[in-house]
Amino acid sequence: MILERDKDLKRLNTLGISAKASWYAAPGSVKEVIELLSDSRFTDIPKLVLGSGSNTLFSGDFNGLVVHPDIMEISIVDITESSLKLKVGAGVDWDRFVAYCVDRGWGGVENLSGIPGCVGAAPVQNIGAYGSEAKDTIVWVDYVDIVTSQERRVTAKECRFGYRESIFKQELKGKTIITFVTFELALDPVVNTSYADVQERLSSTESPTLYDIRKAIIDIRTAKLPDPAKIGNAGSFFKNPIVEESFAQGLKEGNPTLRLYPSSPGFVKIPAAWLIEQCGFKGVRELNVGVHQNHALVLLAYEGATGRELLEFAQKIKRTVKARFSIDIDMEVSVTASS
Ligand code: EPU
Repeated sequence: MILERDKDLKRLNTLGISAKASWYAAPGSVKEVIELLSDSRFTDIPKLVLGSGSNTLFSGDFNGLVVHPDIMEISIVDITESSLKLKVGAGVDWDRFVAYCVDRGWGGVENLSGIPGCVGAAPVQNIGAYGSEAKDTIVWVDYVDIVTSQERRVTAKECRFGYRESIFKQELKGKTIITFVTFELALDPVVNTSYADVQERLSSTESPTLYDIRKAIIDIRTAKLPDPAKIGNAGSFFKNPIVEESFAQGLKEGNPTLRLYPSSPGFVKIPAAWLIEQCGFKGVRELNVGVHQNHALVLLAYEGATGRELLEFAQKIKRTVKARFSIDIDMEVSVTASS
């Protein structure tokens, strides 16, 4: 198993923030995860699970053990006439997994094409895009309990998925190393083109296939979102706030460009990007940090940016939105404070 001391994390987070971890390990199997946890050097030090670092902001060094689960197996665990269950290792790149399914005609994750990250991170914040969420296909999640080193399984229901929410961000926060995620995929898929951008792009395509959906979504993302290989970013930096429908309708009256998105009954999602853009931040750069010119929900970390600098800029945006609209926007990225 890969085990390193004083690991530089700059290449291991898509914001490209420099930070050091006292230890870094990449266990390649459940057995190696358990071995790692039973190593006395790591018993009493903080632990952080890091997939591809596409949703993590290091606000300082991490004085503990960073664990990157590197489990790469994919296996079919059940098959019926209409669907199959696929058990996928936490270390598999999310988009490779999506491509794997689309290539085989297995439906359910194609709308989640192009999302950076590893499979093991998908259930944590229930990744979602273009009218689809990871929860729509996840059937169960396997993990190793960090405290007891026991293998455990939670069903999708037990995961209590919500918008960018799950049990892994609540009572199991910091207590698990996810090893496998099992998905149920349709063998005779029905495509979902409900999201306006997708519908628009496929308006002249008759009976779009999984591949058409994947291509359309990758094209939309490429046009709007910056490539982390070129400029440090973590995709959406904030979550879209959920507000009472009556409040949102009031706001829309004076602001016809505001688009509202469905949430639970009586509530709607307001695009945080719209709120940030209205506050004049879109395309703005302040020293080493900024807001992307094509999408106001994406914060940028230019070369030399520190985590603290980005965090302070994010807090300024949050304060400005609150002062102007009386709406709180919460961060989607997970901030790892120096310990
Ligand atoms: N908008 C603006 N200004 C902008 C960009 C967008 O006003 O600069 C408004 C537009 O009205 C647009 C609306 O915001 O119609 C929604 O924009 P978009 O379709 O890009 O979606 P989003 O709400 O900003 C969410 C997810 C994305 C996901 C897209 C597509 C969150 C926090 N983000 O963004 O997920 O790709 O929907 O489904 O829910 C991510 O989580 O990292 C991510 C990229």
